[in-house]
Formats: sequence, structure tokens, C-alpha cells
Amino acid sequence: MSTSPLKGIKVVDLTEVQSGPSCTQMLAWLGADVIKVERPGVGDATRKELQYDPKLPSYYFLQLNSDKKSITLDLKSPGGKEILTKLIKGADMFIENFHPGAADKLGFSWEAVHAINPKCIYGTIKGFPLSSRFKDLKAYEPIAQVTGAAATTTGWYEGPNNFPTQSGAALGDSNTGMHLLIGLLAALQLRNQTGEGTYVYQSMHNACLNLCRIKTRDQLTLDKIGYLTQYPQYPNGKFGDTVPRAGNIEGGGVLGWTYKCKNWETDDNDYVYVILQRGEKDFEKACKALGFEDWLTNPDFATADARDRHKQQVWARIQEFCITKSKYEVTEILGPAGVPCGPVITTKELMTDQSLYDGNTLVKINQGGGTGEFVTVGCPFTISGYTPTYGPCPELGGDTDKILRDLGYTDEQIAEFAKSGATTNSAEG
Ligand SMILES: CC(C)(COP(=O)(O)OP(=O)(O)OC[C@H]1O[C@@H](n2cnc3c(N)ncnc32)[C@H](O)[C@@H]1OP(=O)(O)O)[C@@H](O)C(=O)NCCC(=O)NCCS
Repeated sequence: MSTSPLKGIKVVDLTEVQSGPSCTQMLAWLGADVIKVERPGVGDATRKELQYDPKLPSYYFLQLNSDKKSITLDLKSPGGKEILTKLIKGADMFIENFHPGAADKLGFSWEAVHAINPKCIYGTIKGFPLSSRFKDLKAYEPIAQVTGAAATTTGWYEGPNNFPTQSGAALGDSNTGMHLLIGLLAALQLRNQTGEGTYVYQSMHNACLNLCRIKTRDQLTLDKIGYLTQYPQYPNGKFGDTVPRAGNIEGGGVLGWTYKCKNWETDDNDYVYVILQRGEKDFEKACKALGFEDWLTNPDFATADARDRHKQQVWARIQEFCITKSKYEVTEILGPAGVPCGPVITTKELMTDQSLYDGNTLVKINQGGGTGEFVTVGCPFTISGYTPTYGPCPELGGDTDKILRDLGYTDEQIAEFAKSGATTNSAEG
């Protein structure tokens, strides 16, 4: 029998959309008891966003709220405030991601929550750090990417498609949730030492910028010497005073690129990524596997620095090698020879790969009702001796009555709260 890492930890979850819920879902998967507080009759905005069927919860909501309970509370009503205060008294964590100032206006600032329960850790997500001139802005994913160095450094570097581009990865949303998770787990450990809860403030901006660390590395180098040897613009293109977009170069000093494979004209994703490492032995292996042994003695290619100066020729020749093969054939030839490479894999291919279900990379959750089973990405790390349960998502306010009873309210009081609009009955949402 395994023990949940966060067994007994109670979380009052006032988060919605993606950033906060991705964090609290992880807490739930690690065994915490997560109570999601939602607006009566409305709930988390994602419940009704991008639905494939207007009668059913969206996959957006389902993929971010597994294993939580839901209570509906109107936090602008006296009854809602009273119930939330009671919940906080028994909580280990209080987490919110409202627009800047909203939690304070509701009467549940860090100071207020700390006064109610000094042991309670307070987690908050906002768009920007408190020191930022943008600290009062509302924020969604693209705002984090355009302000946090991701968009300016992503995408094509020349021609008509040379404009700031967003990553498909949720650098501003789920990434922020994972950053907050780290802060909360550290705060829990701190509380073990001090007995007191602390304030964990995570901005989407800092989370995004943290993943763009190597772009700040490149800025430092650019400021010193005026060029970046690993970029496609080197040696013949022009560099300005800021890190340019880099197409598909590898982030480090090795020479990588995305190559077309034989069906690229009919299949948008028949591409493969191949990397030439800088070390002599590794380069030799690659030359043998590619059949390019002449490069070993050619001064234009024999050293890593020379290859950086002739990267257009390097790319063109490896392209010729790849174009006659599928992305999987290239991987089968170069991979075993010790050349770092990988096929470009689509969402369809990933989600039909049984091996990913075998290892719980992807998991199936039975939601029941009209939804039935749906697929989501499981807890991304494994802990020996512990496997999350991956339960269904709550109905809007589906646990209201039970939670109120657990707080000690009588049936009459529960009915009174519902009548006043402070809550709704579990069946009403
Ligand atoms: C996401 C965001 C842009 C949405 O902004 P929004 O549409 O104004 O929605 P919010 O949930 O923040 O707040 C709306 C209102 O509902 C109120 N509200 C929320 N839950 C409530 C409840 N249970 N009962 C009563 N009122 C409630 C808030 O107090 C707020 O009221 P106010 O406008 O009078 O201050 C904003 O919350 C934000 O910038 N959050 C921080 C960054 C973030 O996490 N972004 C999301 C990334 S996925």
C-alpha cells in the first residue's frame, strides 16, 4: 500500500482557467484534498470554453481539474465569506489566481488569510512580478510569452514569416502552475521548520522568462562580441542589438536543424531533428553513419567552429541525406550510431502510442456521464512506490452540501445559505 506524498494536506483552491488549476491538479494527484471554490451557477470559465458538446464539460476543464472537489460560494455575499473563512481555518494552502487586487477586494488578501490561519500557506498567480510596471495588468498565455522573451526569440528570422511567434507549449499557463507548485512544496517544508505559513507569489512573466534563461545567456554574449556563432545569421547575416529569432537551431552550441523527410510535401510533419555534436569522436560517428567521411579531413567541416562557419552547407548536405527517407528511417539509421536525433511526432501519433499509456505518460480518466473516458497527460514525474489515482473532475458545486456538513453546518443552515444565494445546492451547481 503506497502513501500519498501530500496525504492530509488540505487545499482551498480559488484558481481558474489553466495556470492555477494545473498546479492544484498536481497537488491533488500527489494526494492533497483539493476543494475548488467556484461561483454559483458560473464556475470555472473553462467549464464552458471550447466545448465539443454544449451539454458536457469541455476537455479544457476536464484536463485540469481531476481529483478535486467543488463547492459553490458567492464570495461577495456574507454567507460565502463566512464559509470560506471556515474553510481557511482548516486549510494548509489557499491558492488564487484572480486579476490583481480582486482577492484583496473580496477580503482574502495574504494578510487577511494569514490572520485567519497563520499556518496556512498562501499561493498566488499574477501576470507580472510585484516590482514590474505591468503588475496591475490581467494576463493570459500570450501576454506572458510576448513580455517574457519567448515570442521575440521564437519563429522564423527572415522573409514574410519573420514576426514574434508563440510556442505551442503553455509557457505562461501550465508552466506557471508548475513553478508555483515548486514554491508551495518549498513553503510546506519551511512550515515544517517554522510552524508558520508563508506567501508564495508566482508571476507568469517570471515562469516564462525562467524558461528563456538561455536567451538571456545569448544576450550577454551578443552584448560582448556582437554575434552568436550558433545562430543561422552567423557568419554572413547581420545581428542587431537584441537576440534574434533563430528558426530551428538547437539552444546550445551543438549544430542542430529540422530536416524535411521524403513525404514532407504531403505530410506536414514528416521532418526529423538531427544534431551534430561538437566533440571529435561524436562527429566521427555521425560522419560514418551519414556516409560523409570526407568531412573528417576537410578543414571547412572537420572542427565544430568550422562547421559553425559553414552551417548552411552542413544543413544542405544532411538535408539531402534525409529527403530520401522517412523521419523514422532517419532515426533508425542515425540513432543507434550515437547521433542525437528524433522524429517530429504529432499529437495524433503521441496519443495513439500504447507505450505512453503503459508508463502513465498519458492516462485515461473515467469521468462517467455523457463524457465517459477521456485522455490526459499524467503526473509528468514518477515517484517510486507511489502512483496517483487519476479520479474524475467535479460537477459544479457537486460537493457543496457534503463540505458544508463536514464544516459542521446543519441541514437548515445549508438550506438557508442556498436560499440567500451564498451557495447553491449540490444538485444545482
Ligand atoms: C485570468 C484573468 C485575466 C481573468 O480575469 P477576469 O475575467 O477579471 O476574472 P477573475 O476571475 O479574475 O475575476 C472576475 C471577478 O469575479 C469575482 N469572483 C471570482 N470568484 C468569485 C466567487 N466565487 N464569488 C464571487 N465573486 C467571484 C472576482 O472577485 C472578480 O470581481 P471584481 O472584478 O469585482 O474584482 C485574471 O484573473 C488574471 O489576470 N489572473 C492572473 C493571471 C492568470 O492566472 N491568468 C490566467 C492564465 S491561464
